[in-house]
Amino acid sequence: MSLVGTKEMFEKAYNGGYAVGAFNVNNMEIVQGITEAAAELHSPVILQASAGARKYANSIYLVKLVEAAVALHPEVPIALHLDHGADFEVCKDCIDSGFTSVMIDGSSKPYEENVELSAKVAEYAHAHNVVVEAELGTLAGVEDDVSVAAENAQYTDPAQVVDFVKKTGVDSLAIAIGTSHGAYKFKPGTQPHIRLDILEEIVKELPGFPIVLHGSSSVPQEYVKIINANGGGLQDAIGIPEDQLREAAKSAVCKINIDSDLRLGMTAGIRQHFTEHPEHFDPRQYIGDGRKYVKDIVHHKIINVLGSENKI
Ligand code: G3H
Ligand code: 13P
Ligand code: ZN
Repeated sequence: MSLVGTKEMFEKAYNGGYAVGAFNVNNMEIVQGITEAAAELHSPVILQASAGARKYANSIYLVKLVEAAVALHPEVPIALHLDHGADFEVCKDCIDSGFTSVMIDGSSKPYEENVELSAKVAEYAHAHNVVVEAELGTLAGVEDDVSVAAENAQYTDPAQVVDFVKKTGVDSLAIAIGTSHGAYKFKPGTQPHIRLDILEEIVKELPGFPIVLHGSSSVPQEYVKIINANGGGLQDAIGIPEDQLREAAKSAVCKINIDSDLRLGMTAGIRQHFTEHPEHFDPRQYIGDGRKYVKDIVHHKIINVLGSENKI
């Protein structure tokens, strides 16, 4: 099988009550850890590259690494997605160079500008058989000093979603319901929660339409502990509770974005390796341990959060 788009993946996920994991890739070992776990569990998977990843690794390396994973695991449906495309040009570049899905992120722009930009990307992408994700509402951390009104204003407004999807023609919609990027999503002592009630309202407006959740790392404390026990300094790192993501995956959420948890896994493996083997200096030994934890984490997500095992 060659790289696939997400249309069929999302139809099956929507109807099957599960979500497909969209994992950020930055190097070979991350691609390997993710795709080995997906292959073992017979799960579809989305590999996504951010602007930072493309700058770090060079987009050509990333495309070729993902193509290598496809060749090694031909039975696994694998999509290659641009994460947080900032403008038309970056989306066009990825569409022209082999990506099967792109995100145009106009969420920080005024509504009409977001509509215009997302529609322009969708038109070009569809002419090239590529699918498009857009975002409505802005993700942010839940901060104590943000007033409730301002905080609410960041959530996706269910009253806007039908108009947005109709005018843009995009294939999936990323929404803001209280998830946020990074490893520090909630203040210590607060009850971490996402607004599943807003998701429900959006689903009523857009029945059958695939929804995407960004910022969905759960920040597993066992990996935070390994990092801190081996010289790290991550204080009060808190993520999204897994049971809430599982609920969202049973509903219309078809794509769940995870990056920070893989970073924690890679860092935990490498730090632990150096504590246990201070004499080692072969990168294959310590990056190999990082890759092992990346694979373990994706394994865990597929079974406990996404529900996408045996869905090929
Ligand atoms: O949404 C953000 C992803 O975690 C990518 O992060 O831009 O540092 O590669 P990055
Ligand atoms: P996390 O930082 O929660 O892993 O989110 C990643 C993401 O949304 C990538 O687009
Ligand atoms: Zn994101």
